Amino acid sequence: MSVLRINGGKRLRGAIKVQGAKNSVLPILAATLLARGETVLHNCPRISDADAALDILRRLGCTAEREDDTVVVRSDAASKRAVPVELMREMRASVVFLGAMLAAFGEAVAAKPGGCELGPRPVDLHLAALRALGAETEERDDGVIVCRARGLRGARIDLPFPSVGATENALLAACAAKGETVIRNAAREPEIVDLADFLNGIGARIRGAGTQTIAVEGAPLGGDTEHTVIPDRIAAATYLAAAASAGGDIELMGADPRTLTTVTGVFSEMGCRIEAGRDTIRFTAPERLRAARPVATRPYPGFPTDAQPPLMAAAITAEGTTVFVENLFEDRYRHVPELQKMGADIKTGGKTAVVTGVRALKAARVRAHDLRGGAALVVAALAARGETEITGLHYIDRGYDRLETALRTLGADARRA
Ligand code: UD1
Repeated sequence: MSVLRINGGKRLRGAIKVQGAKNSVLPILAATLLARGETVLHNCPRISDADAALDILRRLGCTAEREDDTVVVRSDAASKRAVPVELMREMRASVVFLGAMLAAFGEAVAAKPGGCELGPRPVDLHLAALRALGAETEERDDGVIVCRARGLRGARIDLPFPSVGATENALLAACAAKGETVIRNAAREPEIVDLADFLNGIGARIRGAGTQTIAVEGAPLGGDTEHTVIPDRIAAATYLAAAASAGGDIELMGADPRTLTTVTGVFSEMGCRIEAGRDTIRFTAPERLRAARPVATRPYPGFPTDAQPPLMAAAITAEGTTVFVENLFEDRYRHVPELQKMGADIKTGGKTAVVTGVRALKAARVRAHDLRGGAALVVAALAARGETEITGLHYIDRGYDRLETALRTLGADARRA
């Protein structure tokens, strides 16, 4: 079992490049099935979720190779084959393959995401959208979802909630549907725009991605293509939280500050100085952080739920009380008992967590229970006196590309053993 050991108390200094977005690369890798040719994907982060997506593509008959941050997928030989359920389970976001496989093969299987990590992860909106486009869907007792369609047809899809995954599945399937699809109350995340840009690059006719209404005109898709994945705004937010917590002065390169304004707004309130360039963020932490006004997570452009745990980890040493309201996921405070082991003063009740700043944190043995909660432990450990031991690293590796290497570049004492 590997352990990440962090000797806290060192201020961070220096510059790092932000990785490509996990939440973009996964749907885009699924969408390469529709290219039926060669896709060259740049800025592809080295994370285990991307590796799992590449394995799924190989099982479907694609070739997929990586050289550094560039991945080349050839999907012309892809055919519908059963993807082993274990492989689907390995990647919780495998559900996004539903729309892509349905569009490419008229048939799809995926594993339903389990309910342990962030609370229940229903897929009712995904399946309703696919049914609206003419698919038949079946949820089996073993958690496997099967979808079939003899011919998808454009439809009007009104999402009751702007779900990211449901919007992506609807978008993917709509590309192969005959006629026009209009998705109302669509998710507006930058990763949706990235997926739409990729699909438009292989012939799709998608308008309005990034707004609440997306229109898709069915069109023949395919062809060789090259695409660069957008920067990961959550990884960027995590490094800002790390510098806020440890103190210091860092620069993020290859970031997109426009997608981070709600996050950087909170750090400004906490006394941090932020200078945004075109694709850089310079960040300077104050002597001591101040508490922020209540932070409530919401769909984009609201405060991202994925940035809540790392921000909370920084807020535990801020002067004053910061209130968090987690509106997206039921079970997203699993990092709290671990942070309490390090001396944090946090009280939770339902959706709310009240963080009262303490002067110092102490090192402890802690365990990650999910990806962003794991990142929160890293952020807190950077401020703690002594050596913190973090286990459960497979969660962190799902979404962070060589996290400890990036932190070492910034001067942190972080080693994996
Ligand atoms: C995506 C991101 C995840 C992020 C989340 C919210 C990926 C791979 N993951 O997840 O990192 O935390 O957006 O920004 O992109 N819901 C339903 N029924 C459904 C689908 C969702 O009730 O069919 C609910 C969920 O329970 C949750 C909310 O909608 O409360 C948001 O989920 P959604 O936007 O779908 O998140 P994901 O796409 O799973």
